[in-house]
Amino acid sequence: MIHKPVLLNEILEFFNPKQGDIFIDGTANGGGHTLALWDRVKPTGKVLAIDKDKDIVKKLKEKVKEDNKNIQIVSDSYANLKNIVDQKEFGKVSGILLDLGYSSYHIDVSGRGFSFQKDEPLIMRYEPDIEIGKDLTAYEVINSFSENDIADIIYKYGEERASRKIAKRIVLKRKQKNIETSGELAEIIEEVFFKKHFKIHPATKSFQALRIFVNDELGNLERALPQMHEILKTGGKVAIISFHSLEDRIVKNFFRDNKDKFKIITKKPVVADKEETKENPRARSAKLRVAEKI
Ligand SMILES: C[S@@+](CC[C@H](N)C(=O)[O-])C[C@H]1O[C@@H](n2cnc3c(N)ncnc32)[C@H](O)[C@@H]1O
Repeated sequence: MIHKPVLLNEILEFFNPKQGDIFIDGTANGGGHTLALWDRVKPTGKVLAIDKDKDIVKKLKEKVKEDNKNIQIVSDSYANLKNIVDQKEFGKVSGILLDLGYSSYHIDVSGRGFSFQKDEPLIMRYEPDIEIGKDLTAYEVINSFSENDIADIIYKYGEERASRKIAKRIVLKRKQKNIETSGELAEIIEEVFFKKHFKIHPATKSFQALRIFVNDELGNLERALPQMHEILKTGGKVAIISFHSLEDRIVKNFFRDNKDKFKIITKKPVVADKEETKENPRARSAKLRVAEKI
Protein backbone atom coordinates (compact mmCIF):
# COMPACT_ATOMS: atom_id res chain seq x y z
CA MET A 1 0.00 0.00 0.00
CA ILE A 2 1.27 3.47 -0.88
CA HIS A 3 1.70 5.83 2.08
CA LYS A 4 -0.69 8.75 1.67
CA PRO A 5 0.94 12.04 2.68
CA VAL A 6 -0.83 13.59 5.67
CA LEU A 7 -1.86 17.28 5.73
CA LEU A 8 -0.20 17.89 2.36
CA ASN A 9 -2.37 20.87 1.37
CA GLU A 10 -1.78 22.51 4.73
CA ILE A 11 2.00 21.99 4.45
CA LEU A 12 2.03 23.57 0.99
CA GLU A 13 -0.04 26.48 2.22
CA PHE A 14 2.27 27.19 5.17
CA PHE A 15 5.49 26.72 3.19
CA ASN A 16 4.20 28.44 0.04
CA PRO A 17 7.09 27.02 -2.03
CA LYS A 18 8.29 29.03 -5.02
CA GLN A 19 10.66 28.18 -7.82
CA GLY A 20 14.25 28.49 -6.54
CA ASP A 21 13.42 27.86 -2.86
CA ILE A 22 15.28 25.28 -0.77
CA PHE A 23 13.47 22.72 1.41
CA ILE A 24 14.40 19.81 3.65
CA ASP A 25 12.11 16.85 4.19
CA GLY A 26 13.61 14.98 7.17
CA THR A 27 11.22 12.01 6.85
CA ALA A 28 10.92 11.48 3.09
CA ASN A 29 9.48 7.93 2.94
CA GLY A 30 7.66 7.43 -0.40
CA GLY A 31 8.17 11.11 -1.23
CA GLY A 32 4.57 12.30 -0.73
CA HIS A 33 5.68 15.67 0.63
CA THR A 34 9.15 15.67 -0.94
CA LEU A 35 7.90 15.44 -4.51
CA ALA A 36 5.14 18.00 -4.01
CA LEU A 37 7.77 20.45 -2.74
CA TRP A 38 10.20 19.55 -5.56
CA ASP A 39 7.45 20.10 -8.12
CA ARG A 40 7.09 23.68 -6.98
CA VAL A 41 10.74 24.64 -6.54
CA LYS A 42 12.37 22.89 -9.53
CA PRO A 43 14.51 23.16 -11.51
CA THR A 44 16.45 25.95 -9.82
CA GLY A 45 15.34 25.20 -6.24
CA LYS A 46 16.60 22.36 -4.09
CA VAL A 47 15.13 19.61 -1.95
CA LEU A 48 17.10 17.50 0.49
CA ALA A 49 15.15 14.36 1.39
CA ILE A 50 16.27 12.28 4.37
CA ASP A 51 15.00 8.93 5.58
CA LYS A 52 16.59 6.57 8.07
CA ASP A 53 15.38 3.51 6.17
CA LYS A 54 17.87 2.58 3.41
CA ASP A 55 15.32 0.37 1.62
CA ILE A 56 12.91 3.29 1.42
CA VAL A 57 15.63 5.64 0.18
CA LYS A 58 16.56 3.18 -2.57
CA LYS A 59 12.93 2.99 -3.71
CA LEU A 60 12.51 6.76 -3.64
CA LYS A 61 15.67 7.25 -5.71
CA GLU A 62 14.28 4.85 -8.33
CA LYS A 63 10.98 6.71 -8.30
CA VAL A 64 12.50 10.18 -8.67
CA LYS A 65 14.72 9.11 -11.59
CA GLU A 66 15.53 12.73 -12.42
CA ASP A 67 19.25 13.20 -12.85
CA ASN A 68 19.28 16.50 -11.07
CA LYS A 69 21.72 17.34 -8.32
CA ASN A 70 19.15 19.73 -6.84
CA ILE A 71 17.07 16.88 -5.46
CA GLN A 72 19.18 14.79 -3.12
CA ILE A 73 17.96 11.76 -1.22
CA VAL A 74 20.03 10.45 1.68
CA SER A 75 19.74 7.66 4.20
CA ASP A 76 20.44 9.13 7.63
CA SER A 77 18.66 10.32 10.76
CA TYR A 78 17.10 13.76 11.00
CA ALA A 79 18.81 13.86 14.38
CA ASN A 80 22.01 14.54 12.35
CA LEU A 81 20.40 17.37 10.39
CA LYS A 82 23.16 19.94 10.80
CA ASN A 83 25.91 17.51 9.79
CA ILE A 84 24.01 16.36 6.71
CA VAL A 85 23.33 19.93 5.59
CA ASP A 86 26.98 20.94 6.18
CA GLN A 87 28.19 18.08 3.99
CA LYS A 88 25.76 18.96 1.21
CA GLU A 89 26.45 22.72 1.22
CA PHE A 90 22.78 23.32 0.70
CA GLY A 91 22.45 27.05 1.40
CA LYS A 92 19.86 28.70 3.65
CA VAL A 93 16.58 26.87 3.75
CA SER A 94 12.95 28.08 3.33
CA GLY A 95 11.37 25.19 5.20
CA ILE A 96 12.10 22.02 7.17
CA LEU A 97 9.46 19.30 7.48
CA LEU A 98 9.28 16.32 9.84
CA ASP A 99 6.36 13.92 9.44
CA LEU A 100 7.11 11.66 12.37
CA GLY A 101 6.87 7.93 12.97
CA TYR A 102 6.37 4.90 10.76
CA SER A 103 4.86 4.51 7.30
CA SER A 104 2.55 2.04 5.58
CA TYR A 105 5.72 0.42 4.16
CA HIS A 106 6.88 -0.54 7.64
CA ILE A 107 3.58 -2.15 8.54
CA ASP A 108 2.79 -3.81 5.21
CA VAL A 109 6.12 -4.64 3.61
CA SER A 110 9.21 -4.31 5.83
CA GLY A 111 8.93 -7.69 7.58
CA ARG A 112 10.39 -6.18 10.76
CA GLY A 113 7.59 -6.88 13.23
CA PHE A 114 5.86 -3.49 13.26
CA SER A 115 2.43 -5.08 12.78
CA PHE A 116 0.55 -7.14 15.36
CA GLN A 117 -1.38 -8.64 12.46
CA LYS A 118 1.70 -10.33 11.01
CA ASP A 119 4.03 -13.02 12.27
CA GLU A 120 7.46 -11.46 11.79
CA PRO A 121 10.72 -11.21 13.77
CA LEU A 122 10.41 -8.67 16.59
CA ILE A 123 12.80 -6.01 15.27
CA MET A 124 10.78 -2.79 14.89
CA ARG A 125 13.76 -0.74 13.71
CA TYR A 126 13.63 1.81 10.89
CA GLU A 127 17.09 0.79 9.64
CA PRO A 128 16.96 -2.52 7.78
CA ASP A 129 20.63 -3.33 8.40
CA ILE A 130 20.96 -3.53 12.18
CA GLU A 131 23.68 -5.32 14.11
CA ILE A 132 22.11 -7.85 16.45
CA GLY A 133 23.58 -7.38 19.91
CA LYS A 134 24.57 -3.77 19.19
CA ASP A 135 21.34 -2.12 18.03
CA LEU A 136 18.38 -2.41 20.37
CA THR A 137 15.44 -4.40 18.99
CA ALA A 138 11.93 -5.07 20.31
CA TYR A 139 13.03 -8.71 20.78
CA GLU A 140 15.66 -7.63 23.29
CA VAL A 141 13.22 -5.43 25.20
CA ILE A 142 10.58 -8.16 25.38
CA ASN A 143 12.95 -11.02 26.23
CA SER A 144 15.56 -9.41 28.47
CA PHE A 145 14.24 -6.22 30.10
CA SER A 146 12.81 -6.44 33.64
CA GLU A 147 9.05 -6.68 34.16
CA ASN A 148 9.10 -3.20 35.65
CA ASP A 149 10.96 -1.65 32.72
CA ILE A 150 8.65 -3.28 30.17
CA ALA A 151 5.62 -1.99 32.08
CA ASP A 152 7.09 1.53 32.24
CA ILE A 153 7.84 1.58 28.49
CA ILE A 154 4.33 0.40 27.60
CA TYR A 155 2.75 2.90 29.98
CA LYS A 156 4.88 5.90 29.05
CA TYR A 157 4.99 5.57 25.26
CA GLY A 158 1.73 3.72 24.71
CA GLU A 159 -0.42 5.31 27.44
CA GLU A 160 -1.62 1.75 28.04
CA ARG A 161 -3.43 1.43 31.37
CA ALA A 162 -3.01 -2.35 31.44
CA SER A 163 0.79 -2.02 31.12
CA ARG A 164 1.56 -3.85 34.41
CA LYS A 165 -0.66 -6.80 33.54
CA ILE A 166 0.81 -7.00 30.04
CA ALA A 167 4.39 -6.91 31.34
CA LYS A 168 3.58 -9.60 33.91
CA ARG A 169 2.15 -11.90 31.23
CA ILE A 170 5.13 -11.30 28.91
CA VAL A 171 7.58 -12.26 31.68
CA LEU A 172 5.53 -15.34 32.59
CA LYS A 173 5.41 -16.49 28.97
CA ARG A 174 9.08 -15.86 28.18
CA LYS A 175 10.06 -18.20 31.03
CA GLN A 176 8.61 -21.04 28.93
CA LYS A 177 10.27 -19.91 25.69
CA ASN A 178 11.60 -16.70 24.16
CA ILE A 179 8.96 -14.56 22.45
CA GLU A 180 10.21 -14.52 18.84
CA THR A 181 7.59 -12.88 16.65
CA SER A 182 5.10 -10.01 16.46
CA GLY A 183 2.31 -12.61 16.18
CA GLU A 184 3.35 -14.37 19.41
CA LEU A 185 3.58 -11.05 21.25
CA ALA A 186 0.17 -9.89 19.99
CA GLU A 187 -1.37 -13.16 21.16
CA ILE A 188 0.13 -12.80 24.66
CA ILE A 189 -1.21 -9.24 24.93
CA GLU A 190 -4.65 -10.35 23.71
CA GLU A 191 -4.79 -12.94 26.52
CA VAL A 192 -4.58 -10.10 29.09
CA PHE A 193 -7.78 -8.63 27.69
CA PHE A 194 -9.58 -11.97 27.69
CA LYS A 195 -13.17 -11.76 26.41
CA LYS A 196 -13.31 -7.97 26.27
CA HIS A 197 -14.34 -6.10 23.14
CA PHE A 198 -12.22 -3.31 21.80
CA LYS A 199 -12.55 -0.59 19.20
CA ILE A 200 -8.85 -0.97 18.43
CA HIS A 201 -6.75 -4.13 18.61
CA PRO A 202 -5.59 -4.65 22.23
CA ALA A 203 -1.94 -4.75 21.14
CA THR A 204 -2.04 -1.36 19.35
CA LYS A 205 -0.75 0.73 22.24
CA SER A 206 1.93 -1.75 23.31
CA PHE A 207 3.29 -2.03 19.76
CA GLN A 208 3.33 1.76 19.44
CA ALA A 209 5.24 2.02 22.72
CA LEU A 210 7.88 -0.52 21.67
CA ARG A 211 8.40 1.19 18.31
CA ILE A 212 8.85 4.62 19.87
CA PHE A 213 11.22 3.29 22.54
CA VAL A 214 13.35 1.04 20.31
CA ASN A 215 13.92 3.84 17.76
CA ASP A 216 14.39 6.55 20.42
CA GLU A 217 11.86 8.61 18.51
CA LEU A 218 11.39 11.26 21.19
CA GLY A 219 15.17 11.61 21.70
CA ASN A 220 15.70 12.10 17.95
CA LEU A 221 13.06 14.82 17.84
CA GLU A 222 14.61 16.56 20.85
CA ARG A 223 18.02 16.47 19.19
CA ALA A 224 16.75 17.70 15.80
CA LEU A 225 14.72 20.75 16.84
CA PRO A 226 17.60 22.89 18.21
CA GLN A 227 19.59 22.35 14.97
CA MET A 228 16.95 23.93 12.76
CA HIS A 229 17.37 27.65 13.51
CA GLU A 230 20.87 27.83 12.05
CA ILE A 231 19.85 25.99 8.89
CA LEU A 232 16.84 28.19 8.09
CA LYS A 233 16.90 31.58 6.46
CA THR A 234 15.08 34.40 8.27
CA GLY A 235 11.37 33.87 7.60
CA GLY A 236 12.01 30.16 6.91
CA LYS A 237 9.58 27.74 8.54
CA VAL A 238 9.68 24.57 10.62
CA ALA A 239 6.67 22.25 10.22
CA ILE A 240 6.30 19.18 12.41
CA ILE A 241 3.54 16.60 12.01
CA SER A 242 3.26 14.42 15.10
CA PHE A 243 1.02 11.48 15.98
CA HIS A 244 1.59 11.12 19.71
CA SER A 245 0.86 13.50 22.58
CA LEU A 246 4.44 13.23 23.90
CA GLU A 247 5.84 14.25 20.50
CA ASP A 248 3.41 17.14 20.21
CA ARG A 249 4.37 18.32 23.69
CA ILE A 250 8.08 18.35 22.78
CA VAL A 251 7.36 20.50 19.70
CA LYS A 252 4.98 22.82 21.55
CA ASN A 253 7.43 23.36 24.43
CA PHE A 254 10.37 23.86 22.08
CA PHE A 255 8.57 26.64 20.19
CA ARG A 256 7.34 28.19 23.45
CA ASP A 257 10.84 28.12 25.01
CA ASN A 258 12.46 29.65 21.93
CA LYS A 259 10.22 32.64 21.33
CA ASP A 260 13.30 34.80 20.77
CA LYS A 261 14.22 32.61 17.80
CA PHE A 262 10.86 31.45 16.42
CA LYS A 263 7.47 33.09 15.88
CA ILE A 264 4.69 30.55 16.45
CA ILE A 265 2.44 30.40 13.38
CA THR A 266 -0.02 27.76 14.65
CA LYS A 267 -1.30 28.83 18.09
CA LYS A 268 -3.17 25.52 18.22
CA PRO A 269 -2.08 22.43 16.31
CA VAL A 270 -3.64 22.08 12.87
CA VAL A 271 -5.55 18.81 12.36
CA ALA A 272 -6.82 17.06 9.25
CA ASP A 273 -10.31 17.92 7.95
CA LYS A 274 -13.18 15.41 7.79
CA GLU A 275 -12.56 14.54 4.17
CA GLU A 276 -8.93 13.62 4.80
CA THR A 277 -9.64 11.58 7.94
CA LYS A 278 -12.30 9.66 6.06
CA GLU A 279 -9.88 8.81 3.28
CA ASN A 280 -6.84 8.23 5.46
CA PRO A 281 -7.40 6.91 9.01
CA ARG A 282 -3.78 7.70 9.93
CA ALA A 283 -4.56 11.41 9.52
CA ARG A 284 -6.96 11.23 12.48
CA SER A 285 -4.25 11.61 15.08
CA ALA A 286 -2.00 13.96 13.09
CA LYS A 287 -1.13 17.34 14.63
CA LEU A 288 0.78 19.96 12.71
CA ARG A 289 2.71 22.79 14.37
CA VAL A 290 4.52 25.46 12.40
CA ALA A 291 6.95 28.19 13.50
CA GLU A 292 8.91 30.82 11.58
CA LYS A 293 12.53 31.84 12.09
CA ILE A 294 12.71 35.41 13.33
C1 LIG B 1 5.23 9.11 8.40
S1 LIG B 1 6.54 8.58 7.39
C2 LIG B 1 6.77 9.96 6.33
C3 LIG B 1 5.82 9.97 5.16
C4 LIG B 1 6.16 10.99 4.08
N1 LIG B 1 6.04 12.34 4.57
C5 LIG B 1 5.21 10.80 2.88
O1 LIG B 1 4.19 11.50 2.85
O2 LIG B 1 5.47 9.97 2.04
C6 LIG B 1 7.90 8.72 8.47
C7 LIG B 1 9.24 8.30 7.88
O3 LIG B 1 10.27 8.74 8.76
C8 LIG B 1 11.32 7.81 8.76
N2 LIG B 1 12.07 8.01 10.00
C9 LIG B 1 11.76 7.59 11.24
N3 LIG B 1 12.70 8.01 12.12
C10 LIG B 1 13.61 8.72 11.39
C11 LIG B 1 14.79 9.43 11.72
N4 LIG B 1 15.25 9.50 12.96
N5 LIG B 1 15.44 10.05 10.72
C12 LIG B 1 15.00 10.02 9.44
N6 LIG B 1 13.89 9.35 9.07
C13 LIG B 1 13.19 8.72 10.04
C14 LIG B 1 10.63 6.46 8.62
O4 LIG B 1 11.52 5.53 8.04
C15 LIG B 1 9.44 6.80 7.72
O5 LIG B 1 9.76 6.50 6.39
